[in-house]
Amino acid sequence: MGDNFRKIEWQIIRLEEVDSTNEYAKRIAETSPEGTVVVARRQIAGKGRKGRSWASPKGGLWLSVILKPGRVDPRLVFVGALAVVDMLADFGISSGIKWPNDVWAAGKKIAGILTEGKGSEYVVLGIGINVNNLVPEELRESAVSMFELLGTKIPPERVLERLLPHISGWYRVFLERPDLLMGKVREKTFILGGTVRVIQDEGELIGRAIDILDDGSLLLETSSGLRRVVYGDVSLRFVEHI
Ligand code: ATP
Ligand code: BTN
Repeated sequence: MGDNFRKIEWQIIRLEEVDSTNEYAKRIAETSPEGTVVVARRQIAGKGRKGRSWASPKGGLWLSVILKPGRVDPRLVFVGALAVVDMLADFGISSGIKWPNDVWAAGKKIAGILTEGKGSEYVVLGIGINVNNLVPEELRESAVSMFELLGTKIPPERVLERLLPHISGWYRVFLERPDLLMGKVREKTFILGGTVRVIQDEGELIGRAIDILDDGSLLLETSSGLRRVVYGDVSLRFVEHI
């Protein structure tokens, strides 16, 4: 890849408590350089997509990275997802991407990614990883932490140390060879081949997940033919039998 890539210099802002690291990062994004990272030990208003809440007690890794790619490209979410998958592999945890914005391990959600931006000015890449935190009672069936899988506590700071180089690596691929980024996403997306229910504002679709296209969209084979589902506020559910 080209040598004119500017290496990201991380500048880490560590907070004890914050509403949401994404909100904090958005407040400072215009005046902060690319590579500014906001990490909090606890979020009191951590959020997922569409204002859904994200449980963020002490013990997890809750961070937002300010990036300035100079273009609007929803595929940036996959930089976060792939970096998490690689970081988990470093700790011996095998995981996969649940398109479009979650990372799953052992059949449960271990991390979520939320990108927010202002046009081509900046993007905030928010990443939440269950490290040592307990997942709330009502999410026990669907969520898991690194601690539960490893049986040992890893300081969130060490997880961050591992994660950042993977973010810069995949960010570079995103900037220079988005086709390669999407190739890796395809490889790591575990829903392919399975039947899923896609929930969108416009309604629901059921079909077999066939492929992730280079533009980041999901190709579904439905009873009425092939349908392309564009990345957005889309939720997926697995379907056992239809
Ligand atoms: P999913 O498909 O995983 O149900 P979604 O795509 O419909 O989620 P998102 O906005 O991506 O919705 O994620 C928010 C959801 O994640 C919440 O509604 C909650 O169910 C779940 N969640 C909240 N906190 C955590 C956490 N710490 N770990 C795992 N899952 C969480
Ligand atoms: C999702 O699965 O919906 C995405 C969850 C994203 C959670 C992270 S935690 C750090 C950052 N700050 C937030 O409020 N949300 C993201």
